Amino acid sequence: MLRSVILAAARSSRVERLVETAPYTRDVVRRFVAGTGTDDALRATRELVAEGLTVTLDHLGEDTVNPEQADATRDAYVTLLAALSAAGLTPAAEVSLKLSALGQMFDEQLAYENARAICAAAAQAGTTVTLDMEDHTTTDSTLDILAKLREDHPGTGAVLQAYLRRTESDCRDLAGAGSRVRLCKGAYREPESVAYQSAREVDKSYVRCMNILMSGDGYPMLATHDPRLIAIGEDRARWFDRGPDRFEFQMLYGIRPEEQSRLVGEGYTVRTYVPYGTEWYGYLMRRLAERPANLAFFGRALVSR
Ligand code: FDA
Repeated sequence: MLRSVILAAARSSRVERLVETAPYTRDVVRRFVAGTGTDDALRATRELVAEGLTVTLDHLGEDTVNPEQADATRDAYVTLLAALSAAGLTPAAEVSLKLSALGQMFDEQLAYENARAICAAAAQAGTTVTLDMEDHTTTDSTLDILAKLREDHPGTGAVLQAYLRRTESDCRDLAGAGSRVRLCKGAYREPESVAYQSAREVDKSYVRCMNILMSGDGYPMLATHDPRLIAIGEDRARWFDRGPDRFEFQMLYGIRPEEQSRLVGEGYTVRTYVPYGTEWYGYLMRRLAERPANLAFFGRALVSR
């Protein structure tokens, strides 16, 4: 219930203005977002890489409504990739992108061309791109664009969301050699017709999908902070004899950092998803929706001091 309210607020420009102008918002945002510019992204990446982590960077923004904005997002990624390469931070750092920020909502071809330009810049920088997955109305389009991008850039990865009923089948399709798949639970509000609604059903689906990916020939990226799912991931890695070069764990910047370090200490590859940029509102609201404790933390920061 609370989750639905917060996810609805994520789409409200009135709530967005309220949150953005609240006096202590910035302190809360900083916990989950590395900063606003390329320099902030580089600083956070350097710090994480020094701790033995790998990184995927997300230039925040989604639901772009005009081509100029989409081009600006593409250019921001190209600039970032050149800077990461110049700083010697590739291939430890790669990028994650949302096709809706590249024009998917109004021109799929434009989104594809922008994504292709970013994949080319990533290849030149010696690293890879992963396509984030947004709400279920975009899944087919995103997987179609993924297939086209992989023709020239086979290392391009995609995200699959365990809460969608279709995802086991998508995992089977994408479990082949060379395929990079990030498996997450899913962060959007989805109808029962397409998505499991209870946490238990989503977790069971996650395990079924994990089994498909870990027993396949691709490169699974297990994106979760859930202690039970991480333990099952460690078990499957042993069972399927997957070392640190054959799968990885992924977690979000600012969430369970001590667990990220523990896994690095155990010898696993761990990638931190680092968002940066000025358009942090939708991202922050999804993180708050995942965990009421974060909402309390946010509320305290807004009213205290
Ligand atoms: P769950 O939410 O059940 O949390 C399990 C435990 O983790 C909690 O009990 C708590 O201990 C801790 N935890 C989780 N969230 C927390 C938070 N916000 N603050 C503090 N502690 C928290 N989704 C999507 O739809 N499309 C995408 O492309 C991506 N991409 C993506 C990349 C990466 C690297 C990650 C880690 C996640 C995503 N997601 C995503 C988000 C994902 O779908 C999901 O919403 C979150 O990861 C939360 O789900 P968990 O698996 O962590 O479990």
